[in-house]
Amino acid sequence: MTPSDVKATLSFSDGSPSMELPIYKGTIGPEVIDIRKLYGQTGKFTYDPGFLSTASCNSSITYIDGDKGELLYRGYPIEQLAVNCDFLETCHLLLYGELPNVEQKSSFVNRVTHHTMVNEQMHFFLRGFRRDAHPMAVMTGLVGALSAFYHDSTDINNAEHREIAAIRLIAKMPTLVSMAYKYSVGQPFIYPKNDLSYAGNFMRMMFATPCEDFTVSPVIERALDRIFILHADHEQNASTSTVRLCGSSGTNPFAAIAAGVACLWGPAHGGANEAALNMLEDIQRQGGVEKIGEFIGKVKDKNSGIKLMGFGHRVYKNYDPRAKLMRETCHEVLNELGLHNDPLFKLAMALEKIALEDDYFVARKLYPNVDFYSGIVQRAIGIPVSLFTAIFALARTVGWIAQLNEMIADPEYKIGRPRQLFSGAAPRTVKPIGER
Ligand code: SDX
Repeated sequence: MTPSDVKATLSFSDGSPSMELPIYKGTIGPEVIDIRKLYGQTGKFTYDPGFLSTASCNSSITYIDGDKGELLYRGYPIEQLAVNCDFLETCHLLLYGELPNVEQKSSFVNRVTHHTMVNEQMHFFLRGFRRDAHPMAVMTGLVGALSAFYHDSTDINNAEHREIAAIRLIAKMPTLVSMAYKYSVGQPFIYPKNDLSYAGNFMRMMFATPCEDFTVSPVIERALDRIFILHADHEQNASTSTVRLCGSSGTNPFAAIAAGVACLWGPAHGGANEAALNMLEDIQRQGGVEKIGEFIGKVKDKNSGIKLMGFGHRVYKNYDPRAKLMRETCHEVLNELGLHNDPLFKLAMALEKIALEDDYFVARKLYPNVDFYSGIVQRAIGIPVSLFTAIFALARTVGWIAQLNEMIADPEYKIGRPRQLFSGAAPRTVKPIGER
């Protein structure tokens, strides 16, 4: 964080004393005006519900340029990582700041691989849920419950504890997500197999049964690994900000990540992939491509409350680069699986084309985001719709824990405690109940 030569001056039209505010610049992207002394000197807060103009932290992990549609993990464009790396290399990059060399990758993969099992007691925890519980309800519980098993390593001020918690969370999320799925279909849990890749191991835990050998499809393995890379981190989005705020109280990392899982579940955030696929299936049921015009009309009618799920983004005012890569993956997987005539994929591309030519979307700079195509790919490889967001959480866990650890390692960090503009009742006196 480099001080700028330029200062901001805040002055008041009533002649109140003005104040000078320092400006800081990062490596790339918008500069920040440091308002930390504002309240102390003026008695006033800034007001920014939804944080549209607020930088909550100084981070070196992920950079997004919303106007260009650019996404960098530790400086590397997502397009290059998605093609040249696998998910565990990307995890190493997000956690430690550099892509691993051969030895570092082998050691990291070995550490993650040997933490994939969960305590057998977790099986009993699952039994408390109804079989039809939403997987995100189960995941919120399971991830929080991990706190109960690692009393030996939850001192967040101990860098080794922070690192082993990161390894455990990255390693165990596929096991937990597949357990949530197996429980929902009444099948036995499948234990991790250490000679498989991260994505291959997840596929096997999801779809293998004790009754026969399971062969991982390289096409699906690669597609899933790319889905994980594309969802790994995304700057200070709602769930990452939740993890940071939760972790700022000093709670253990498992509890903080559980808070992130809960936040991601919302349809405006990670729940959009499930909502986008359900939206496509609804349009398909009602008539498919011919019904797109009618549906877009409902979306443009504010009173309908209907949004084009998988479209729009708080930061991207251009095409989400992940959506482009997801559409390519969609194309590859559907072709490889002989589903190139998948009606839902054709419907999604027709909907995208129409929306991108419609003034309503153009004026509001609404483009497809990561969630628009991810559901089609996941459905094609056999993932049930209700599990889409749990897979988003699986992939995002590395981003959450990298951001949490970055915050805690910063000696300047404090507990997050925003203030408010109060518009409620002025002080008043309680009357006896007979006089109310
Ligand atoms: C993710 O933050 C991240 O980085 C998130 C994420 C990540 O990796 O962590 O990228 C993952 O959450 C992607 C977003 C997934 N959500 C959806 O696809 C749900 C549909 N999208 C919308 O809910 C919305 O676009 C948001 C929530 C994503 C962004 O909302 P903003 O930034 O608050 O924008 P807004 O609601 O103020 O919208 C501006 C205008 C409004 O119209 P007007 O009031 O100006 O007339 O655009 C309209 C909105 O009504 N609008 C949409 C729309 N999204 C915005 N209209 C129709 N369909 C949509 N999808």
